Amino acid sequence: MASRLKHILKSQQFSRQWLEEEFFPLSKKMKKAVLSGQRLTDLDGKIVSLLFYEPSTRTRTSFQQAALKLGALTVATENAKEFSSAVKGETMKDTTRIMNSYHFDAVVIRSDYEGAAEEAASVSTAPIINAGDGAGQHPTQSLLDIFTIYEHFGKIDGLRIALVGDLKYGRTVRSLSYLLGKFKDIKIDLVAPDSLQMRDDILEYYKEHGIEFQKYSDIAKIIDKADVIYMTRAQKERMKEGEKADGSGVVLNRELLGKVKSGSIIMHPLPRSSDINEIPEELTDDPRIVIFEEAENGLFTRMALLKMVIQG
Ligand code: NCD
Repeated sequence: MASRLKHILKSQQFSRQWLEEEFFPLSKKMKKAVLSGQRLTDLDGKIVSLLFYEPSTRTRTSFQQAALKLGALTVATENAKEFSSAVKGETMKDTTRIMNSYHFDAVVIRSDYEGAAEEAASVSTAPIINAGDGAGQHPTQSLLDIFTIYEHFGKIDGLRIALVGDLKYGRTVRSLSYLLGKFKDIKIDLVAPDSLQMRDDILEYYKEHGIEFQKYSDIAKIIDKADVIYMTRAQKERMKEGEKADGSGVVLNRELLGKVKSGSIIMHPLPRSSDINEIPEELTDDPRIVIFEEAENGLFTRMALLKMVIQG
Protein backbone atom coordinates (compact mmCIF):
# COMPACT_ATOMS: atom_id res chain seq x y z
CA MET A 1 0.00 0.00 0.00
CA ALA A 2 1.49 3.31 -1.07
CA SER A 3 2.00 5.87 1.67
CA ARG A 4 0.21 9.20 1.29
CA LEU A 5 2.43 11.94 -0.03
CA LYS A 6 0.99 15.29 1.02
CA HIS A 7 3.36 18.01 -0.17
CA ILE A 8 6.62 17.93 -2.14
CA LEU A 9 8.79 20.60 -0.54
CA LYS A 10 12.35 19.38 -0.15
CA SER A 11 14.38 16.33 -1.06
CA GLN A 12 15.15 15.37 2.54
CA GLN A 13 11.54 14.31 2.95
CA PHE A 14 11.90 11.20 0.79
CA SER A 15 13.19 7.85 2.01
CA ARG A 16 15.22 5.35 0.09
CA GLN A 17 12.36 2.89 0.43
CA TRP A 18 9.89 5.37 -1.09
CA LEU A 19 12.26 6.06 -3.96
CA GLU A 20 12.87 2.40 -4.74
CA GLU A 21 9.47 0.93 -4.00
CA GLU A 22 7.09 3.68 -5.06
CA PHE A 23 8.64 6.49 -7.06
CA PHE A 24 10.92 4.56 -9.47
CA PRO A 25 8.29 1.90 -10.31
CA LEU A 26 5.47 4.41 -10.85
CA SER A 27 7.69 6.67 -12.99
CA LYS A 28 8.67 3.63 -15.05
CA LYS A 29 5.02 2.72 -15.45
CA MET A 30 4.17 6.25 -16.61
CA LYS A 31 7.04 6.14 -19.08
CA LYS A 32 5.84 2.86 -20.53
CA ALA A 33 2.28 4.14 -20.81
CA VAL A 34 3.29 7.35 -22.59
CA LEU A 35 5.74 5.63 -24.93
CA SER A 36 3.18 3.01 -25.88
CA GLY A 37 0.54 5.67 -26.57
CA GLN A 38 -1.77 4.51 -23.79
CA ARG A 39 -4.46 7.02 -22.83
CA LEU A 40 -4.51 7.53 -19.06
CA THR A 41 -7.44 8.80 -17.04
CA ASP A 42 -6.01 8.57 -13.50
CA LEU A 43 -6.66 12.24 -12.74
CA ASP A 44 -9.85 12.77 -14.72
CA GLY A 45 -11.77 15.77 -13.39
CA LYS A 46 -8.85 17.07 -11.32
CA ILE A 47 -7.48 20.60 -11.80
CA VAL A 48 -3.91 21.66 -11.03
CA SER A 49 -2.80 25.26 -10.44
CA LEU A 50 0.63 26.23 -11.76
CA LEU A 51 2.01 29.39 -10.20
CA PHE A 52 5.35 30.41 -11.64
CA TYR A 53 7.07 33.52 -10.25
CA GLU A 54 10.34 32.80 -12.08
CA PRO A 55 11.08 31.85 -15.70
CA SER A 56 10.71 28.20 -16.60
CA THR A 57 10.44 26.14 -19.76
CA ARG A 58 10.83 22.50 -18.72
CA THR A 59 9.36 22.45 -15.24
CA ARG A 60 6.22 24.39 -16.14
CA THR A 61 5.57 22.68 -19.48
CA SER A 62 6.28 19.19 -18.19
CA PHE A 63 4.02 19.66 -15.15
CA GLN A 64 1.28 20.96 -17.40
CA GLN A 65 1.73 18.12 -19.87
CA ALA A 66 1.95 15.59 -17.01
CA ALA A 67 -1.44 16.78 -15.74
CA LEU A 68 -2.99 16.65 -19.22
CA LYS A 69 -1.55 13.19 -19.93
CA LEU A 70 -3.31 11.94 -16.79
CA GLY A 71 -6.62 13.53 -17.75
CA ALA A 72 -6.37 16.55 -15.41
CA LEU A 73 -6.69 20.20 -16.45
CA THR A 74 -4.43 23.09 -15.46
CA VAL A 75 -4.70 26.79 -14.76
CA ALA A 76 -1.27 28.33 -15.30
CA THR A 77 0.12 31.71 -14.29
CA GLU A 78 3.46 31.75 -15.98
CA ASN A 79 4.70 35.18 -15.02
CA ALA A 80 3.23 35.49 -11.57
CA LYS A 81 5.89 37.92 -10.41
CA GLU A 82 4.52 40.48 -12.85
CA PHE A 83 0.93 39.41 -13.44
CA SER A 84 -0.26 38.16 -10.05
CA SER A 85 -1.16 40.16 -6.96
CA ALA A 86 2.44 39.65 -5.78
CA VAL A 87 2.99 42.99 -7.52
CA LYS A 88 0.50 44.47 -5.07
CA GLY A 89 2.35 43.00 -2.12
CA GLU A 90 0.26 39.90 -1.54
CA THR A 91 2.02 37.26 0.54
CA MET A 92 2.56 33.64 -0.52
CA LYS A 93 0.30 32.56 2.33
CA ASP A 94 -2.61 34.67 1.10
CA THR A 95 -2.12 33.58 -2.52
CA THR A 96 -2.21 29.98 -1.31
CA ARG A 97 -5.39 30.58 0.69
CA ILE A 98 -6.95 31.90 -2.51
CA MET A 99 -5.87 28.82 -4.51
CA ASN A 100 -7.43 26.70 -1.77
CA SER A 101 -10.68 28.64 -1.90
CA TYR A 102 -10.90 27.88 -5.63
CA HIS A 103 -10.58 24.15 -4.88
CA PHE A 104 -7.51 23.17 -6.86
CA ASP A 105 -6.41 19.58 -6.38
CA ALA A 106 -2.73 20.54 -6.26
CA VAL A 107 -0.70 23.75 -6.53
CA VAL A 108 2.71 23.75 -8.21
CA ILE A 109 4.77 26.79 -7.19
CA ARG A 110 8.04 28.19 -8.49
CA SER A 111 9.14 31.19 -6.51
CA ASP A 112 12.16 33.45 -6.30
CA TYR A 113 12.92 33.03 -2.62
CA GLU A 114 13.99 30.19 -0.36
CA GLY A 115 11.25 28.76 1.83
CA ALA A 116 8.29 29.97 -0.28
CA ALA A 117 6.87 26.48 -0.86
CA GLU A 118 7.04 25.67 2.85
CA GLU A 119 5.28 28.92 3.61
CA ALA A 120 2.52 27.99 1.16
CA ALA A 121 2.26 24.46 2.58
CA SER A 122 1.88 25.81 6.11
CA VAL A 123 -1.57 27.16 5.21
CA SER A 124 -2.58 24.92 2.32
CA THR A 125 -5.28 22.28 2.32
CA ALA A 126 -4.24 21.20 -1.20
CA PRO A 127 -0.90 19.54 -1.89
CA ILE A 128 1.88 22.03 -2.65
CA ILE A 129 4.67 21.05 -5.03
CA ASN A 130 7.89 23.05 -4.87
CA ALA A 131 8.99 23.64 -8.46
CA GLY A 132 12.04 25.61 -7.30
CA ASP A 133 12.30 28.15 -4.46
CA GLY A 134 15.01 30.71 -5.17
CA ALA A 135 18.45 29.31 -4.40
CA GLY A 136 16.84 26.79 -2.02
CA GLN A 137 15.69 23.54 -3.58
CA HIS A 138 14.18 21.99 -6.67
CA PRO A 139 13.04 18.59 -5.40
CA THR A 140 11.16 17.44 -8.52
CA GLN A 141 14.25 18.12 -10.65
CA SER A 142 16.36 16.00 -8.32
CA LEU A 143 13.77 13.24 -8.48
CA LEU A 144 13.91 13.16 -12.27
CA ASP A 145 17.69 13.30 -12.05
CA ILE A 146 17.96 10.37 -9.66
CA PHE A 147 15.46 8.40 -11.76
CA THR A 148 17.67 9.02 -14.82
CA ILE A 149 20.75 7.86 -12.89
CA TYR A 150 18.90 4.79 -11.64
CA GLU A 151 17.74 3.90 -15.16
CA HIS A 152 21.33 4.02 -16.42
CA PHE A 153 23.11 2.16 -13.67
CA GLY A 154 20.30 0.06 -12.18
CA LYS A 155 21.48 1.28 -8.77
CA ILE A 156 22.64 4.38 -6.93
CA ASP A 157 24.85 2.80 -4.25
CA GLY A 158 28.57 3.04 -4.90
CA LEU A 159 28.41 5.74 -7.58
CA ARG A 160 30.87 8.59 -7.88
CA ILE A 161 29.15 11.80 -8.88
CA ALA A 162 30.76 15.06 -9.93
CA LEU A 163 28.65 18.18 -9.36
CA VAL A 164 30.05 20.87 -11.61
CA GLY A 165 29.51 24.62 -12.02
CA ASP A 166 27.59 27.00 -9.80
CA LEU A 167 27.12 24.96 -6.65
CA LYS A 168 26.46 27.98 -4.46
CA TYR A 169 23.29 29.26 -6.10
CA GLY A 170 22.23 26.17 -8.07
CA ARG A 171 19.24 24.58 -6.36
CA THR A 172 19.26 21.36 -8.38
CA VAL A 173 22.63 20.22 -7.00
CA ARG A 174 21.42 20.94 -3.47
CA SER A 175 18.30 18.84 -3.88
CA LEU A 176 20.22 16.06 -5.62
CA SER A 177 22.72 15.99 -2.75
CA TYR A 178 19.93 15.35 -0.26
CA LEU A 179 18.68 12.40 -2.32
CA LEU A 180 22.14 10.91 -2.76
CA GLY A 181 22.51 10.95 1.02
CA LYS A 182 19.87 8.23 1.19
CA PHE A 183 22.21 5.74 -0.53
CA LYS A 184 25.42 3.91 0.39
CA ASP A 185 29.06 4.44 -0.58
CA ILE A 186 28.44 7.63 -2.53
CA LYS A 187 31.41 9.80 -3.49
CA ILE A 188 30.84 13.39 -4.56
CA ASP A 189 33.33 15.60 -6.39
CA LEU A 190 32.45 19.28 -6.03
CA VAL A 191 33.87 21.15 -9.01
CA ALA A 192 33.42 24.92 -8.86
CA PRO A 193 35.37 28.16 -8.63
CA ASP A 194 36.06 28.92 -4.94
CA SER A 195 33.47 31.69 -4.90
CA LEU A 196 30.72 29.35 -6.11
CA GLN A 197 31.46 26.25 -4.03
CA MET A 198 28.78 24.23 -2.27
CA ARG A 199 27.37 25.90 0.84
CA ASP A 200 28.17 24.58 4.32
CA ASP A 201 24.70 23.22 5.10
CA ILE A 202 25.08 20.65 2.33
CA LEU A 203 28.67 19.80 3.34
CA GLU A 204 27.38 19.13 6.86
CA TYR A 205 24.69 16.87 5.41
CA TYR A 206 27.35 14.91 3.46
CA LYS A 207 29.30 14.39 6.69
CA GLU A 208 26.24 13.27 8.61
CA HIS A 209 25.25 10.82 5.89
CA GLY A 210 28.67 9.28 5.23
CA ILE A 211 29.14 10.81 1.79
CA GLU A 212 32.81 11.16 0.89
CA PHE A 213 33.41 14.48 -0.83
CA GLN A 214 36.21 16.61 -2.16
CA LYS A 215 36.40 20.10 -3.67
CA TYR A 216 38.09 20.86 -7.00
CA SER A 217 38.30 23.91 -9.23
CA ASP A 218 38.99 22.08 -12.48
CA ILE A 219 36.83 19.39 -14.03
CA ALA A 220 39.93 17.90 -15.71
CA LYS A 221 41.00 16.54 -12.30
CA ILE A 222 38.08 14.14 -12.01
CA ILE A 223 36.47 13.75 -15.41
CA ASP A 224 38.06 10.31 -15.91
CA LYS A 225 36.87 9.06 -12.52
CA ALA A 226 33.21 10.05 -12.14
CA ASP A 227 30.27 7.83 -13.10
CA VAL A 228 27.96 10.81 -13.38
CA ILE A 229 29.14 14.26 -14.41
CA TYR A 230 26.36 16.69 -13.48
CA MET A 231 26.99 20.02 -15.17
CA THR A 232 25.16 23.23 -14.21
CA ARG A 233 24.66 26.77 -15.44
CA ALA A 234 26.02 29.84 -13.62
CA GLN A 235 22.97 31.27 -11.83
CA LYS A 236 23.75 34.84 -12.83
CA GLU A 237 20.33 36.09 -11.78
CA ARG A 238 21.13 35.16 -8.17
CA MET A 239 24.70 36.49 -7.98
CA LYS A 240 25.50 39.51 -5.87
CA GLU A 241 27.44 42.54 -7.01
CA GLY A 242 31.07 41.65 -7.63
CA GLU A 243 30.32 37.95 -8.14
CA LYS A 244 30.65 36.54 -11.59
CA ALA A 245 31.34 33.25 -13.32
CA ASP A 246 33.62 32.95 -16.31
CA GLY A 247 33.37 29.22 -16.78
CA SER A 248 37.01 28.43 -16.06
CA GLY A 249 37.39 24.83 -14.99
CA VAL A 250 33.69 24.02 -15.33
CA VAL A 251 33.19 23.76 -19.09
CA LEU A 252 33.21 20.62 -21.18
CA ASN A 253 35.12 20.28 -24.47
CA ARG A 254 35.90 17.46 -26.87
CA GLU A 255 39.25 16.68 -25.29
CA LEU A 256 37.74 16.39 -21.81
CA LEU A 257 34.86 14.34 -23.14
CA GLY A 258 37.40 11.91 -24.55
CA LYS A 259 38.57 11.17 -20.99
CA VAL A 260 35.13 10.25 -19.64
CA LYS A 261 34.97 6.60 -18.49
CA SER A 262 33.03 4.27 -20.71
CA GLY A 263 29.56 3.81 -19.24
CA SER A 264 29.62 7.19 -17.50
CA ILE A 265 26.95 9.78 -18.24
CA ILE A 266 26.88 13.56 -18.47
CA MET A 267 23.79 15.32 -17.15
CA HIS A 268 22.54 18.90 -16.92
CA PRO A 269 19.20 20.14 -15.56
CA LEU A 270 19.08 22.66 -18.44
CA PRO A 271 18.95 25.33 -19.66
CA ARG A 272 22.63 25.20 -20.67
CA SER A 273 23.91 28.69 -21.21
CA SER A 274 25.07 29.82 -24.61
CA ASP A 275 27.63 32.29 -23.25
CA ILE A 276 29.58 30.14 -20.77
CA ASN A 277 28.69 27.18 -22.95
CA GLU A 278 29.24 24.50 -20.29
CA ILE A 279 28.14 21.76 -22.72
CA PRO A 280 28.93 23.07 -26.20
CA GLU A 281 26.28 22.51 -28.89
CA GLU A 282 28.68 20.46 -31.05
CA LEU A 283 28.94 17.77 -28.34
CA THR A 284 25.16 17.37 -28.02
CA ASP A 285 24.85 14.10 -29.94
CA ASP A 286 27.52 12.24 -27.99
CA PRO A 287 25.73 9.22 -26.50
CA ARG A 288 27.19 9.87 -23.04
CA ILE A 289 25.40 13.21 -22.91
CA VAL A 290 21.92 12.26 -21.72
CA ILE A 291 20.48 15.75 -21.15
CA PHE A 292 17.41 15.40 -23.35
CA GLU A 293 16.57 11.95 -22.04
CA GLU A 294 16.91 13.47 -18.57
CA ALA A 295 14.50 16.28 -19.52
CA GLU A 296 12.05 13.75 -21.02
CA ASN A 297 12.08 11.85 -17.72
CA GLY A 298 10.74 15.08 -16.22
CA LEU A 299 7.40 14.30 -17.85
CA PHE A 300 7.17 10.72 -16.58
CA THR A 301 8.35 11.48 -13.06
CA ARG A 302 6.04 14.50 -12.73
CA MET A 303 3.13 12.33 -13.86
CA ALA A 304 4.03 9.92 -11.06
CA LEU A 305 4.34 12.76 -8.54
CA LEU A 306 1.04 14.40 -9.48
CA LYS A 307 -0.75 11.09 -9.20
CA MET A 308 0.83 10.39 -5.82
CA VAL A 309 0.01 13.76 -4.27
CA ILE A 310 -3.51 13.98 -5.66
CA GLN A 311 -4.60 10.37 -5.21
CA GLY A 312 -2.32 9.22 -2.44
C1 NCD B 1 16.94 24.62 -13.19
C2 NCD B 1 16.30 25.55 -12.17
O1 NCD B 1 15.29 26.20 -12.46
O2 NCD B 1 16.83 25.56 -11.07
N1 NCD B 1 16.15 24.50 -14.36
C3 NCD B 1 15.22 23.50 -14.45
O3 NCD B 1 14.21 23.53 -13.78
N2 NCD B 1 15.50 22.47 -15.25
C4 NCD B 1 18.33 24.93 -13.50
C5 NCD B 1 18.73 26.32 -13.94
O4 NCD B 1 17.91 27.23 -14.10
O5 NCD B 1 19.94 26.50 -14.15
